[in-house]
Amino acid sequence: MAIEFRIHHLEDVESTNRVARELVLDGAGEDLVVVAGTQSKGRGRLDRSWESPEGGLWFSIILRPDIEPDMVPSLNIIGALSVARVLRNDYDMDARVKWPNDVRVEGRKICGILSEMFRGRSGDMFLVIGIGLNANIDVSCFSKDIRVRTTSIKNERGVEVDLDTLLNSILTQFGTLCSDMFSGGFPAVLSEHRSLVESIGSRVRVRPVPPEEAFEGIAVGMDRRGALVVELDDGRNRCVLEGDVDLV
Ligand code: BTN
Repeated sequence: MAIEFRIHHLEDVESTNRVARELVLDGAGEDLVVVAGTQSKGRGRLDRSWESPEGGLWFSIILRPDIEPDMVPSLNIIGALSVARVLRNDYDMDARVKWPNDVRVEGRKICGILSEMFRGRSGDMFLVIGIGLNANIDVSCFSKDIRVRTTSIKNERGVEVDLDTLLNSILTQFGTLCSDMFSGGFPAVLSEHRSLVESIGSRVRVRPVPPEEAFEGIAVGMDRRGALVVELDDGRNRCVLEGDVDLV
């Protein structure tokens, strides 16, 4: 493993991203992973809540990456690709990526990622990458609107998996991909990610973040930062670094 992560196990927390932030402000340092059995106030992207019952893998990775702010999405890409690799290679699942970083199986979401950047005590920038993976969960326990578009390893494979093994495998992939990225191998990482992104080549509707008017076009690829490149109807290309994308 390219990064030696320290793992901090907790039972029930509000949100592992929140604990991670508190630990950093207490001076905990980087390359630490906070993992919890359940979250009472799990948070998703765009201020949504994230249901986090027992059986899921809920964790946050604390990093202090030496990168430009516009490269932060590249670490989300690495997170999504790490999960997709493990689901594909170790659990024989056809895991794909819904840009930017949802991991889906047969069109249903199995994993989401929420990254947050903030300054530590000394003013250094820290990044917390929160990953929620529906592992040993029966999706019938989720609320109705979530259940219909969600799946889990248990639902797909019919078995429960060892959560520590799953976490270690994802962290190994994450560490390897980070070291590839920092040694100049990000184009290869992006090309593997691109090959798994569902919407490339399709017509999409994009709702950018921060909010701007939604627009449609053909998703044609990703740029060097991992931004989605959308060809508009007038032939111009528009890049989106953050937002929600749906097939139309
Ligand atoms: C999303 O798809 O909206 C992102 C969901 C991210 C959920 C994870 S679970 C671990 C970490 N702690 C949180 O409160 N959220 C992230």
